[in-house]
Amino acid sequence: MSFTPHAGSGKITAPDILSRKNSPEPKSKIACVTAYDYPTARLLDESGLDVILVGDSVGMAVLGYDSTLPVTLDDIIYHARAVRRGVHRALLVADMPYGSFHISLEESVRNALRLVKEAGVEAVKIEGGERRLELIARLVEAEIPVMGHVGLTPQSINALGGFHVQGKSADAARQIERDARAVEAAGAFSIVLESVPRELAAQITAESHIPTIGIGAGPDCDGQILVFHDLVGFGTQHKPKFVRTYANLSDEISRAVSDYCADVRAGQFPADAESYHSAAELREHLLAATRR
Ligand code: KIV
Repeated sequence: MSFTPHAGSGKITAPDILSRKNSPEPKSKIACVTAYDYPTARLLDESGLDVILVGDSVGMAVLGYDSTLPVTLDDIIYHARAVRRGVHRALLVADMPYGSFHISLEESVRNALRLVKEAGVEAVKIEGGERRLELIARLVEAEIPVMGHVGLTPQSINALGGFHVQGKSADAARQIERDARAVEAAGAFSIVLESVPRELAAQITAESHIPTIGIGAGPDCDGQILVFHDLVGFGTQHKPKFVRTYANLSDEISRAVSDYCADVRAGQFPADAESYHSAAELREHLLAATRR
């Protein structure tokens, strides 16, 4: 596999993200988005994002599942390899999917190593707090930077009973604080806080020494992450309160495809200008395409 993660200047690394927490310079927040394919990854990387995550949200955003649970390690590797080819500047992180780190520490480390070796990711994200302490420490020992993820952890949907805001009771809030502290103590370089009250996220952010990346956790986190398809309004039917859609690609795609159908049916596509007129012209076009 060929990829050039360190090509060009300004490559963002896990230590760079960590150092944003305690930087004496005026802080800009860390901007993160998910990606699952090459063209999107290229656009996102060129837009100047700090972190691109190959999330197991691929299961719901792209593969049509109703949870992230069916997503396999091979699915993540497949998508991460495509994303890797488009990302040169942002830090590339991949999710460890459900089942890939639940059997034994040895198998979990082996699976994380596959993400690094076969897909070229630069860090992995692990859902769970206190109970993942040992695993996170083992991965860090194996030189794999880890992004933690606490609060609403979608892989726990069966145990949690649904996608609900977490940390609403005092006890639940204390548990999430303990989870965040454990992730930091284990050596993670950053931590996602998902669907927790703003005040709780603000408190964890104030107390932690690693950057917090919020999703449904209010504006006080050190950074934010959104699922790409939510951000651009592509395909998702349910819009959680915390999502801001910056475009409406679903409508735009439907309009474009209906216009195309109408043009084909009316014989208006292709036009003469969209047709080749000689074998020589066709050869020239094909040659130019192979040179691109
Ligand atoms: O899978 C995912 O995309 C995620 C982010 C939304 C944090 O876990």
